[in-house]
Amino acid sequence: MMAGVSGSSTTPLLCSLFFISSLLFASCTHASSQAPPPIVDGLSWDFYRTSCPMLEGIVSKHLQKVFKKDNGQAPALLRIFFHDCFVQGCDGSILLDGSPNEKDQPANIGIRPEALQTIENLRSLVHKQCGRVVSCADLVVLAARDAVSLSGGPIFPVPLGRKDGLTFSIDGTGNLPGPSSRTGQLLDRFAGRNFDATDVVALSGAHTFGRAHCATFFSRINQTDPPIDPTLNNNLIKTCPSSQSPNTAVLDVRTPNVFDNKYYVNLANRQGLFTSDQDLFGDARTKGIVNSFAENQKLFFEKFSNAVVKLSQLDVLTGKQGQIRAKCSVPNKKKVVTSVVEEEGVDLSAQM
Ligand code: HEM
Ligand SMILES: *[C@@H]1O[C@H](CO)[C@@H](O)[C@H](O)[C@H]1NC(C)=O
Repeated sequence: MMAGVSGSSTTPLLCSLFFISSLLFASCTHASSQAPPPIVDGLSWDFYRTSCPMLEGIVSKHLQKVFKKDNGQAPALLRIFFHDCFVQGCDGSILLDGSPNEKDQPANIGIRPEALQTIENLRSLVHKQCGRVVSCADLVVLAARDAVSLSGGPIFPVPLGRKDGLTFSIDGTGNLPGPSSRTGQLLDRFAGRNFDATDVVALSGAHTFGRAHCATFFSRINQTDPPIDPTLNNNLIKTCPSSQSPNTAVLDVRTPNVFDNKYYVNLANRQGLFTSDQDLFGDARTKGIVNSFAENQKLFFEKFSNAVVKLSQLDVLTGKQGQIRAKCSVPNKKKVVTSVVEEEGVDLSAQM
């Protein structure tokens, strides 16, 4: 999967590339001191340098506006990225309409439609300036990356050049981990995609912001294994009169809207919302990693960025594979040759 490594880029090169195209002047001081993770053939750190040099600026500027009005869109976009990449690779399949479709499957409960719309709005802005050269799959990755940094998290480059897929996978959503998973199940599931325990603990740190619906954590109420903080327990009882309640709780009781390492401090205090979160502190294979991130935010940021770059390369389509959608929710018509493609699309059901 990570074959065809071409990760010879040095940190100084990354810094200068990133400097050109990025959000903040200070990027290099925040950037990892480690070598960047390897990238797969077909992706590159400067893929749109000539075809759409303003890409990262357009995305960042638009998202700043969006988050100012609704900061819940930041965690929503990060989750969309995970659910896109973990199911059939980072191919924009979660964005596709259809009945049934991927985004409406049980594992995708709570995916926010307004954040899906934000991806489409970014596509429209970017295609207006550059033409139809940037994929929806890349926009999902860029939006997630900016959602993290604009919420206080690490600033890091992501490789680009993904193409959009023509299909989605309903069955594939069954591979997404569930909130009642124990650590062993999480480690197994992620190991199947080449992620180690450090990656799993770091990626779970995404639950440092955002929300969850009662149905996803109701079983944690009154739980003794893993244990739950009594105050959190009482609050969850009040929030959720039943598992079917449409109410939500914050994932991080300390700093619910900030991307920081407080998630791990919560775990050390039995305040993880999901069993899958809290058990990371109970399991000997992951407890030390949780503690190291609770004590050292810089270390967490480094491991998180690396794991996201890795996640962003799962089963990507590149080069002549796939297509660049003219609308993120619809595959293009087959064999359309020229610019008329902008207005065309075809119902996915017709192709499946
Ligand atoms: C380790 C296994 C994981 C499990 C079991 C899990 C499960 C869940 C569940 C059940 C929700 C609540 C959805 C809702 O009710 O609206 C949620 C929310 C969220 N997840 Fe995960 N997740 C996992 C890993 C990840 C990863 C790897 C990321 C990203 C890198 C991520 C990012 C998020 C974010 C940001 C939210 C909040 C979404 C929002 O506020 O709209 N999760 N997760
Ligand atoms: C939790 O325990 C309290 C006190 O024993 C009880 O009243 C409540 O029904 C329990 N809730 C759930 C969801 O198990």
